Amino acid sequence: MTLTIHSLAAWEILDSRGRPTIAVQSTLSDGSTATAQVPSGASTGVHEALELRDADPQRYRGKGVRKAVSHVEGEIAAALQGCPAEAVDEALIALDGTPNKSRLGANALLGVSCATARALAQSRGIPLWQHLAAGRAARMPVPMINIFSGGHHAGHNIEFQDFLALPVRFDTYSEALAAVVDIHTKARELAEARGYHLTGVADEGGWGPALKSNEEALEILTRAVEPYGGRVAIALDVASSHFYQDGLYHLKTEGRTLNAGGMIDLLDQWTRRYPVISIEDGLAEDDWNHWPLLTARLGERAQLIGDDFFTTNPQRVRRGIAEKAANAVLVKMNQIGTLAETFEVIDLARSAGWRAVISARSGETEDSFLADLAIASGMGQIKVGSITRSERLAKYNRLLEIEKQHQLEYRFP
Ligand code: PGA
Ligand code: ZN
Repeated sequence: MTLTIHSLAAWEILDSRGRPTIAVQSTLSDGSTATAQVPSGASTGVHEALELRDADPQRYRGKGVRKAVSHVEGEIAAALQGCPAEAVDEALIALDGTPNKSRLGANALLGVSCATARALAQSRGIPLWQHLAAGRAARMPVPMINIFSGGHHAGHNIEFQDFLALPVRFDTYSEALAAVVDIHTKARELAEARGYHLTGVADEGGWGPALKSNEEALEILTRAVEPYGGRVAIALDVASSHFYQDGLYHLKTEGRTLNAGGMIDLLDQWTRRYPVISIEDGLAEDDWNHWPLLTARLGERAQLIGDDFFTTNPQRVRRGIAEKAANAVLVKMNQIGTLAETFEVIDLARSAGWRAVISARSGETEDSFLADLAIASGMGQIKVGSITRSERLAKYNRLLEIEKQHQLEYRFP
């Protein structure tokens, strides 16, 4: 018997920054019911699907999501009632009818998509990751974990956004996690020894001191990972679109302004001077001319990931593959708005021989959906932020639970 949608409910909740986001409950014809919470970014790409907000300045400074809630409970619920649950994403895309989900809101659509997937897993009596995998070879992901934060996530102390530890050579996920927790503490001690006062953590749980330069974060992190002798490498999220203007990259704390060639030279130098093996958004989101040059130059040595560059959009990823513009894609469900399109991007990356990193947003919730998605993708990498703040730990701890319950392969791709 085909399971269909019986009913949908939605409500406004708060994310890890105290901003409204949406939660959705999906109930199927056999009574299975589940909820999902939708994340929200701060350093967003211009090509992302539209996150619908109320724009009512009297409530949450315009950031309320009551319109998205009413779309789920009104038009979407009415149209989807009786729809086969397995076909919900296609129905949502058709119902919205716009290329960027701007009519009903990508936040509304994603909530329905994820809650329905979870209800289906429940109905089948299997873990969410197993339901999502749908034949893909599931595996535990290697985490890239934020240690120092900059840019939009840390009051613009420095320009680069994330300095991450990437535990590439461990036998298990739990051993890798333990090593990174140690590195997080070590990084704090090293920063304090240089006279920095740390009073809390940034949006994703990393340290956000007012460092002198981006390179200083790299110096400290390199020292913090050193005791692991090559078992822990460094990843960067440059998030360069956010300091790019009029064709130039403005590195204020470095006292220099670079063109694309200058940025490529800088990243080249830093991958030689420091153990950096992964660079996200090293160039700006529409710099299609220079991404292939970056990839030709560093692609053999480093994972070059497009986040704002691809915005989890199958069309942009297809173009990126055709133009050899990168060799990896960051996957954020809410950049595109449905699970079906998210898996389309994952499968595109796999068939092109690219890597994919399943990623959270800087505004997160206690929902651990992403942990299951990362396992189901079979791509072997996850990016959730740091190891403080429970909206991050919901994912890390869910992975520990799955590690305990199932024997899944663990290995850096
Ligand atoms: P965001 O940033 O969630 O604030 O957009 C995360 C990232 O750039 O990877
Ligand atoms: Zn990014």
